[in-house]
Amino acid sequence: MTKYILAIDQGTTSSRAIVFGGDRTIAGVGQKEFAQIFPQDGWVEHDPEEIWDSVVWSIKTALKQAGIGAGDVAAIGITNQRETTLIWDRATGKAIHNAIVWQDRRTAAYCAKLKKAGHEKTVTKKTGLLLDPYFSGTKVKWLLDNVKGARKQAEKGELAFGTVDAFLIWRLTGGKVHATDATNAGRTLLFDIGRNQWDKGLLELFDVPAALLPEVKDCADDFGVTDEKLFGAAIPILGVAGDQHAATIGQACFQPGMLKSTYGTGCFALLNTGTDMVRSKNRLLTTIAYRLDGETSYALEGSIFIAGAAVQWIRDGLKLVKQASETGPLARTADPSQNVYMVPAFVGLGAPWWDAEARGAIYGLTRNSGPAEIAKAALEAVCYQTRDLLEAMRKDWKGGGDTVLRVDGGMVASDWTMQFLADVLDAPVDRPVILETTALGAAWLAGSKAGVWPGMKEFAASWARDKRFEPEMDAAERRRKVKGWDAAVRRTLSV
Ligand code: G3P
Repeated sequence: MTKYILAIDQGTTSSRAIVFGGDRTIAGVGQKEFAQIFPQDGWVEHDPEEIWDSVVWSIKTALKQAGIGAGDVAAIGITNQRETTLIWDRATGKAIHNAIVWQDRRTAAYCAKLKKAGHEKTVTKKTGLLLDPYFSGTKVKWLLDNVKGARKQAEKGELAFGTVDAFLIWRLTGGKVHATDATNAGRTLLFDIGRNQWDKGLLELFDVPAALLPEVKDCADDFGVTDEKLFGAAIPILGVAGDQHAATIGQACFQPGMLKSTYGTGCFALLNTGTDMVRSKNRLLTTIAYRLDGETSYALEGSIFIAGAAVQWIRDGLKLVKQASETGPLARTADPSQNVYMVPAFVGLGAPWWDAEARGAIYGLTRNSGPAEIAKAALEAVCYQTRDLLEAMRKDWKGGGDTVLRVDGGMVASDWTMQFLADVLDAPVDRPVILETTALGAAWLAGSKAGVWPGMKEFAASWARDKRFEPEMDAAERRRKVKGWDAAVRRTLSV
């Protein structure tokens, strides 16, 4: 019996494919970066063909590295950057426009208009989300209104909408399956997360024809098989989840009260609330954590748009370091007496501020400030923002218990950053042995469905800690630092 599982992690800046062996160790990896397209201030696009090519290339590379063929793979699990919006022609499979990326702010004015007209309450009640350009719904409308002939074609049922998972499923199955999973559907502004179905009222509000929509399935489900022509054998696709939901699974945060935070391009903290759809009073999102066997588990989510992207900016924009991994060591050399704060609102601010028009700022510069102080401020900003999210969660979640934050993603390799995180959170931070938690979560969905990986209990028991970071900072010092951060954010808000 074939035991290998292939996870596809289609992220914001790169596509990755990871082959896991039966013992859940990594047997092969393929990874390819692709271009970020910035047509205007606040606009972010991806070329769908480049996404597709990078995925196919990564899969082939990972299989080759593992020394196996497609016939040795029991199942595929897909995880993806969420909310990024594509519309394609059902006849040709070609997208009608570049993908509009989750970070894109082009629909900010439209969102503000809907908010002013009093629609946010109903939208939040049904979707758990807010009226922000981050989510897919207003991006779909923008495409239909701005690509010539699109609306007419959509009404005739000639076009298909999907987030990246659905686009990949369509392409991988040779156009046979148009489906998504509940976690991705739940980020579109069109899906009622309580009733678990597309919502007619929301489709009307956002002017989106139902004929565009994919079928919504469980996270571990039958999503069809890959076209044999692609990799030489048909592989079943048995798992799909948005990347933050897959990371929640990969971190084994299956019990209510368990909390993870992933540091990729952005940072996303999810607190499992079980079958309770907790409504935030502090501008957090209510989201589907995962849906398994028709049963939905929910989460409270805090979303920060810029985390690793701030480090990327230090490297590529300011050219202060050659490798992202040099940022931590550079920050460590900063003058401790300086109080430099960076608010990386490059694409506005997410939770709990939700200010689409805010833009980045640096405060507290003196003649002595240099690369080290700026690098330190960038890393610290990610930690302060995580604190803002956790503070909001502490107020919203009455489930009790001590907060231990499970962390993953590229930035958590830096001990310095993780220690500062524990210090400003005033809570322990756990770094797992396996840092590929997003891919692992997708692989578990597919592997358990295929019957070659264990069930939830045994999988959760195998989660292992690499290191725990305990808070060490003096309380008065923490208060002083956090106060400085609060002041910096308030000065950055657009209104
Ligand atoms: O909601 C956007 C998120 O899914 C993107 O994740 O890992 O690319 O920062 P990441």
